[in-house]
Amino acid sequence: MWLVKKFFIRCLSKFIGFVMGRMDLPEPELLSGPGSLQKLPALIQSKRIRNVLLVSDKGITGLGLVDSLVKALGEAGIACTVFDDVQPNPTIANIESGVEVYRANQCDGIIAFGGGSPMDCAKVINARIGYPDKKVLDLKGGMKVPGPLPPLFAVPTTAGTGSECSLGAMVSDPDSHEKFGIGSPHLVPSYAVLDAELMIGLPPHITSSTGMDALTHAVESYIGNWATDYTNLHAEQAVEIILRDLEATYRDGTDVARRQNLAMASHHAGLAFTRAMVGYVHAISHNLGGLYGVPHGLANAVILPYILDFCRQDCETQLAKLAVIGGIGRDNEPTETLSTRFIEKVREMNRNMDIPTGIAQLQASDITNLAKRALAEAHPQYPVPRLMKQSQCEAILRKLLVD
Ligand SMILES: NC(=O)c1ccc[n+]([C@@H]2O[C@H](COP(=O)([O-])OP(=O)(O)OC[C@H]3O[C@@H](n4cnc5c(N)ncnc54)[C@H](O)[C@@H]3O)[C@@H](O)[C@H]2O)c1
Ligand SMILES: [Fe+2]
Repeated sequence: MWLVKKFFIRCLSKFIGFVMGRMDLPEPELLSGPGSLQKLPALIQSKRIRNVLLVSDKGITGLGLVDSLVKALGEAGIACTVFDDVQPNPTIANIESGVEVYRANQCDGIIAFGGGSPMDCAKVINARIGYPDKKVLDLKGGMKVPGPLPPLFAVPTTAGTGSECSLGAMVSDPDSHEKFGIGSPHLVPSYAVLDAELMIGLPPHITSSTGMDALTHAVESYIGNWATDYTNLHAEQAVEIILRDLEATYRDGTDVARRQNLAMASHHAGLAFTRAMVGYVHAISHNLGGLYGVPHGLANAVILPYILDFCRQDCETQLAKLAVIGGIGRDNEPTETLSTRFIEKVREMNRNMDIPTGIAQLQASDITNLAKRALAEAHPQYPVPRLMKQSQCEAILRKLLVD
């Protein structure tokens, strides 16, 4: 039975991968480097946009991170309404509130300013504005956004989700306690600003968890079956930077050059995973996010080594290569040694950045359901190197229990 199921999952996955591989995915035009945010008002002006909605969250506005931009937009004659009600793991209600504010203020453009939560929320607000007949739940899944959308300007403040260049947006549905994805090439932002000056004040625990999210994007895309030379190149650049700079930035976040490197690493990882997809780490993490609100990056960081243990033998060569690229081995060492060392390195990074080995919110009674939902999310659309049964997923989840 399992063999038959496996065969069908693999066939469907191959088919989706074939279609994805032929899709012409846009990439955002970049404004990059410390201070690059200052160039955004002129860019928006050149698109004849007069009245923007800036989508963010209260953590960011509370720190005054949007103030200089709002002022500069005003000076450029562009009105700006700040909508900062986005929650972490943004909800359908957050999106609908943003749509209302956009309409009430007769906005004609959107700036997504923040981590993955405001960026994903802004991407779906944009889709709702572009296609008002489509409710958020109508957009759930792949390819449901009917056509092109007005340009969206993304300003990531974490490094990160890569949402500024990805075709996806994750939305939480508090009614079903599920977190679901909306995926469409039309969701890819038209412009992205990678400005490390915005990230200097990112607290250490968010620096570490969002950095490990980016590492997970790079690794899952690299070991998956849809990886291409293009995605591998980006994933490798991301891994090299993250292994070199993340822990140092966790200890001292004030080095702008390192912060800029990490912003770029997150972007590279985004370019890789939006084409080559993610895997079981994300499938489990999304469901922990939906059920308990566990921060996405933290969940990924905790789960990553367990999933790599599970599939190591099926992606030994790729993990070995990442160990060499990450500077923790030489390419004449056996792949078994190198791949095992890479996983150990992930564990060591977690330890050094005070990331736990389990998920405190996880309840044993939820494990069966969580495993079902995670596998339903992963099969067939995540091209994982080794397929997982319900019992194997439950066993991994049990390892995450904290007593
Ligand atoms: N669309 C995609 O491709 C994609 C990929 C990965 C994750 N995601 C989604 O992104 C969300 C997570 O995003 P995230 O990890 O960036 O976190 P987040 O956007 O939820 O932000 C986490 C916290 O960090 C704070 N913060 C953000 N930037 C800051 C800064 N510069 N200084 C100080 N505080 C700052 C915020 O106020 C917030 O409290 C999840 O919903 C996840 O599912 C989306
Ligand atoms: Fe992620």
